[in-house]
Amino acid sequence: MYKCVVCESRYEPFISFGRMPIANGFLAPSEFADEFFFELKVGFCGTCHMVQLAELVDRGKMFHEHYAFLSSTSTGMATHFREFAESVMTGYLQDHDPFVVELGSNDGVMLQHFARRSVRHLGVEPSANVAGIARDKGIRTVCRFFDEDLAREIVAEDGQADAVLGANVMCHIPYQHSVLAGIRVLLKPQGVLIFEDPYLGDIVSKTSYDQIYDEHALYFSVASVTSLVQRHGLEVVDVAPQPVHGGSMRYVIAHKGKRPVSRAVRAQREQERTLALDRSETYERLRGNIDRSREDLRGLLHRVKRDGKRIVGYGATSKSTTVTNFCGITPELVDFISDTTPTKQGKYSPGAHIPVRPYAEFAASPPDFALLFAWNHREEILSKERRFVAAGGKFIVYVPRVAVVG
Ligand code: SAH
Ligand code: TYD
Ligand code: ZN
Repeated sequence: MYKCVVCESRYEPFISFGRMPIANGFLAPSEFADEFFFELKVGFCGTCHMVQLAELVDRGKMFHEHYAFLSSTSTGMATHFREFAESVMTGYLQDHDPFVVELGSNDGVMLQHFARRSVRHLGVEPSANVAGIARDKGIRTVCRFFDEDLAREIVAEDGQADAVLGANVMCHIPYQHSVLAGIRVLLKPQGVLIFEDPYLGDIVSKTSYDQIYDEHALYFSVASVTSLVQRHGLEVVDVAPQPVHGGSMRYVIAHKGKRPVSRAVRAQREQERTLALDRSETYERLRGNIDRSREDLRGLLHRVKRDGKRIVGYGATSKSTTVTNFCGITPELVDFISDTTPTKQGKYSPGAHIPVRPYAEFAASPPDFALLFAWNHREEILSKERRFVAAGGKFIVYVPRVAVVG
């Protein structure tokens, strides 16, 4: 039995993916022998409805001075973050000297829009290499993990914030009670916490189990976020689905009673009941769907390989670490993974040790099949790869189900 990180009730994991490495731990052959592994297993708390990793990885093993994930590498996401920043500037900042804090600000992809308009801001980013990139762009950044202590230090130095923002970071933080105690201190009376993360409803309905990896300690729904924040005198006042990362949810949180609660909150909670996100049977069914997805993908890859075709991975995503290791995808099946991120190129994928190569190698010698690990950027990639498809190239996708497209 495991103890829920939110409410301390006991639960049993509903699935184990077996031994997994660090999802963003792209590595050199000299590091293979020392690679870290842990058991990736997930559970549903029947009391507070939080879906969570049973075994947590030490945060220093994931977020450090060699963190491989650079937010600015995707143009689609850069546009998304500009729009996110603009919606905050028009909707939530007071006229006089507003102050914005972003958690997990990475290379400054979102905060740069506030910096450009001379809005007082602070990024909180524990991974030193990406924090350094943001600072070089003139974005004020503190290289620390956010928690209650840091929140108090920020208030002492800069005062309270109009808005605290977070994209794909809250779900990385199992010590939510310290974070939310900090948010309560940091927010002005009318202030808001606005964050977005991959949405549990999408993971369940699309069987997108590759969202499950070491960094994602929590898998949020409106129900579980509501029960979490109310323990800290906070309240969900608005929610809005987002198309990014294969289906995300944006949550707006305020001090309890300070802002009206939008109709969208109740509507989304009703939809979650329809999806039965509050029932353990849903997660038993998800496990069955995940096992089926693995068998289908393995079957397809082996058939294609037996036909003498070449397969290359497209996008060395964190998500792909779960897929390659869970489905037994080796360099014998997939020649290499094409990726545009310089810090990943020349290295090998975690656990499966598939080489990561620059996109130029994909373009110079297109394979018969591209295994679309970056399926969350499907539209952007399919429109970029029209020539690959016109020349007979095909994509293999596995979300929402295993299929060949193109
Ligand atoms: N917001 C960016 C980056 C997401 S990756 C985007 O959506 O593209 C998650 C980031 O959160 C990493 O850069 C990691 O270093 C950072 N992080 C992890 N734990 C954190 C914490 N406790 N406080 C602030 N940032 C944290
Ligand atoms: P991302 O969407 O951030 O997924 P995750 O959160 O699972 O890491 O990662 C996308 C990866 O795909 C990133 O390494 C960049 C790469 N990529 C390409 O190589 N080509 C492309 O056209 C796109 C859109 C992404
Ligand atoms: Zn719980």
